[in-house]
Amino acid sequence: MANKFYITTPLYYVNAQPHIGHSYTNIAADTLAREMRNILGKDNVWFLTGTDEHGQKIQRQAENEGAIPQDFTDKMVLTFKDLWKDLNISYNDFIRTTEERHIKIVQQALEILYKKGEIYENKYEGWYCTPCETFWTETQITDKLCPDCKRPLEKISETNYFFKLSKYQDWLVGYIKNHADFIKPAFRRQEVLSFLELNKLTDLCISRPKERLSWGIPLPFSAEHVTYVWFDALVNYISAVGTFDAQGNYNSRWWPADLHLIGKDILRQHAIYWPIILRALNIELPKTIFAHGWWLVGENKMSKSRGNVVSPKDLVDKYGLDVYRYFLLRDVPFGMDGNFSEEAIVKRFNGDLANDLGNLVFRTLVMIEKYFQGNIPDVEISKIELNTQAKNIREKIKALPGEVNLYLTAGSDFNFSLGLEKIWQLINLSNKYIEDTRPWNLDKEKKTEELKVFIRLLAEVIREIAETISVFMPKTAESIKEQIGQDKIKKGNPLFPRIDLTPKT
Ligand code: MSP
Repeated sequence: MANKFYITTPLYYVNAQPHIGHSYTNIAADTLAREMRNILGKDNVWFLTGTDEHGQKIQRQAENEGAIPQDFTDKMVLTFKDLWKDLNISYNDFIRTTEERHIKIVQQALEILYKKGEIYENKYEGWYCTPCETFWTETQITDKLCPDCKRPLEKISETNYFFKLSKYQDWLVGYIKNHADFIKPAFRRQEVLSFLELNKLTDLCISRPKERLSWGIPLPFSAEHVTYVWFDALVNYISAVGTFDAQGNYNSRWWPADLHLIGKDILRQHAIYWPIILRALNIELPKTIFAHGWWLVGENKMSKSRGNVVSPKDLVDKYGLDVYRYFLLRDVPFGMDGNFSEEAIVKRFNGDLANDLGNLVFRTLVMIEKYFQGNIPDVEISKIELNTQAKNIREKIKALPGEVNLYLTAGSDFNFSLGLEKIWQLINLSNKYIEDTRPWNLDKEKKTEELKVFIRLLAEVIREIAETISVFMPKTAESIKEQIGQDKIKKGNPLFPRIDLTPKT
């Protein structure tokens, strides 16, 4: 395994408040960053997130609010940073596309490509979707509506700059075919390959005339243009962690990225534009691009206009941070779409969290208090002949970290849900162990040695559970570790008091 791990999230548009979709990517990335820090040491992991602040969408929203774009984005970026703090997101760096360090690298990249002849000027005539900032050719449209968002298109005619995407098509197909882990999950890789097989790539328009859009990075070789927002934004992955030398070679401690985590809707930009831009710049490609699914409300996308946007902050205030993190990672296999509902959260809360995990911890602590005055019995389990059930639990404790880690890799499609399921298998096994052992009888019959072994094993289960859930639910793990202590416990309130669903009268 490589000795460093560089993970990124998309840069979020700051034209609207963050919703659960955005929080999903960051919680997933945070979990993986924590896991990798445990494995490689914290100095060997770099977790980058940030905000995408240029382009029409942002300029327009700033205008709507009567603000200049920079003031508007300065204000909006705080709502993202505040949310990441509330969600316990352990990023190492936060990049804004309006920062000097980013602008400089974007302009250098453009300059290098221009000098190499990878970018050329041309007259463009065709259809344009302003909200999507996308060009469409006559053959791609059936009416005068955007094929993606169905809003009216504008006919435009202007001079622009184009990046030679098309000449790299065959190379990209070959690259994807030869690198099984480059695009994940596999069905997304297949989607990209089919797209490339069915469509001939056209060169990418990487400029916008200033008269139409002024809020962007100026093109170094034209005073009349700014940079297309996607070219600008993608470059963040290299601008945040490295520099170009005088010969145009890119140097970085962290590059290539080990994982670009994205949503399925921005796969094309990441799996087609980005590798080709890197290739043209003679920069190594990221190891893996993983596209996760969408959280839907009913059958629908979340959107401001539908009025169905769910606020992460409200959910965290209502149910607690780790319940929210657990729900998102557990309820839907990563990569698939999921249906969001509060009923589903409450179900997970009362079942997995209150009944299974909360109960295991609470009743074990109660027993330690009752039978051993709060002291964890000092027995060395490994030296004792255990019954079948206890032996099985001990083996499961040992195997757990490795098994969970395996799910958190590209090879397993970062299946957080199955990783958590593994942990819960041990929790459920341990709850059953308590019921089957009937400790109250052992106590009555004064079978103290047996009771000691029983309690000690449960304490070890709980410690291991706290270790393995710490990347998913850091606060809960800390609280469990505090309560179980080293030798003497410090029992607190139940971790997840059940939520009563009956309406209050
Ligand atoms: N700014 C671009 C990304 C540039 S990356 C160099 C962008 N921003 S976005 O704010 O619109 O979306 C950011 C991410 O949030 C995308 O990965 C998108 O898939 C994700 N989500 C937005 N809504 C979502 C859901 N409802 N569910 C899950 N993720 C979704 O695109």
